[in-house]
Amino acid sequence: MTATTTPVTSASASWWKNAVVYQIYPRSYADSNGDGIGDLTGICEHLDHIQALGADALWVSPVFRSPMADAGYDISDYCDIDPLFGTLADADRLIREAHARGLRILLDFVPNHTSDQHPWFIESRASRDNPRRDWYIWRDEPNDWRAALGAGSAWTWDDTTRQYYLHLFLPEQPDLNWRNPQVMQAMHDVLRFWLDRGVDGFRIDVAHCTGKDPTFANHPRCLAGEPLASFNDDPYSHEVLRGIRSLIDSYPGDRVLVGEVNIRSTASVVRYYGAGDELHMSFNFPPLDAPWDPVVFRTCIREVDKLMGPAEAWPTWVLSNHDNSRHRSRYDGSMRRARAAALLLLTLRGTPFIFQGEELGLEDAVIAAGQQVDPGGRDGCRAPLPWSSAAPHGWNGAAPWLPFAPDADTLSVESQLGDNTSMLHWYRQLLQARRASPALRLGDWEELPSPPEVLTYRRRHGDDERIVCINFADSAMPTDLPGAWQVQLATQPGRTGRAFDGVVLEEQGLLLAPARSGQ
Ligand code: NOJ
Repeated sequence: MTATTTPVTSASASWWKNAVVYQIYPRSYADSNGDGIGDLTGICEHLDHIQALGADALWVSPVFRSPMADAGYDISDYCDIDPLFGTLADADRLIREAHARGLRILLDFVPNHTSDQHPWFIESRASRDNPRRDWYIWRDEPNDWRAALGAGSAWTWDDTTRQYYLHLFLPEQPDLNWRNPQVMQAMHDVLRFWLDRGVDGFRIDVAHCTGKDPTFANHPRCLAGEPLASFNDDPYSHEVLRGIRSLIDSYPGDRVLVGEVNIRSTASVVRYYGAGDELHMSFNFPPLDAPWDPVVFRTCIREVDKLMGPAEAWPTWVLSNHDNSRHRSRYDGSMRRARAAALLLLTLRGTPFIFQGEELGLEDAVIAAGQQVDPGGRDGCRAPLPWSSAAPHGWNGAAPWLPFAPDADTLSVESQLGDNTSMLHWYRQLLQARRASPALRLGDWEELPSPPEVLTYRRRHGDDERIVCINFADSAMPTDLPGAWQVQLATQPGRTGRAFDGVVLEEQGLLLAPARSGQ
């Protein structure tokens, strides 16, 4: 077993190391105008939910002008809000109101591609000698690169100018040419536009994709059917990130960059932190792919500790987001596992991200053939949040753009508020425990010996200590711990406040605190 100890982080660490971030998928959060699609005013009206949960920051998925070929990740104006979501004034209000509640706000920056309806691309495709021709990537011959979202070749033929343009995603999402200094300048201006309006940072979409192999060599993995975006790793992306980082560092207020590096290798992800001059944090997807299996989780967590600790790269932890099946669905619909997973998410060393609805224990919605919206088949996890117990669950007006997840009545915010054993209360308790404990927020992480089915670790910061035990097995497991401990929180009721008796029940998670003398 590994027994490494990661360095203690200073108590004066940046806010984002202390934070829990809540991801808002605006289409499905809350609808204020009854058109069936969530909007910025809806978010403003439900900020109390996030505040009561105990999160510190919001990441808002794209709300910019977009033809919505990829639900807003195809942007036609980076400096305006799509009318579906509201107006610039609504965005300003959201920033103001979030700040007034002590919540930081991160927007989604999509640097790799625009919409094909962006005026830059319309000009670029108008003629070969258009001044913006080189803002995108044009070639006479395609190579074998494949696009994501099932889009086939990453090259689309343009009949007017008789060349192919590159798109690592849909043909409606042409890739920008970041080697052109004017593109870099224009995209930096976009960042300034939002930083000047007061946002606290950005989540950067496919941060590893802006640089491409300048030789455009074929790649065997593409030939084998894998999209380039899953493994693109050209050094130029790092230069792009250094430019963005130095821009953001020139602003006051500890602004932050968290990148989506969708390469399923923690070793590759670490490189995107640079020498402290690229991303502040990166998503790391192996735990999000992991099944409910102690061997897989232990391996992912050890990897993070081994690779990120020495690099001083601050980890992130994510179990669900808008691109993947929700973790409760991935764990066979088990609420018990989802409760234990929440304990894991919120007690590992690093910044946790909660995807809206996971605090309710939602599963994926069942999407009938005719209801599919997303070309990538990711609708299930994007279902609207059920606010009230009775249908239409707070979505008054037109039917919401997607059906609700199963059990929307009993899993609604309203139902769960009235039940102190609910998932929502469990998340609130965990966030409270984390906020109150320097060990859980910033402490070192050390794995402790335990049976293979039980993941056990200690978090420690100065005098503050906690132990976490997660039993992945379907039967109770003995677990010996050094010293005397008492149960601070347990996924199943009945043990809280009691001395730890050396047993972790089936699929149970325990948060243990040192036993007070006399116990
Ligand atoms: C990653 C985003 O999370 C996903 O939703 C989107 O389809 C692709 N990047 C392309 O922007």
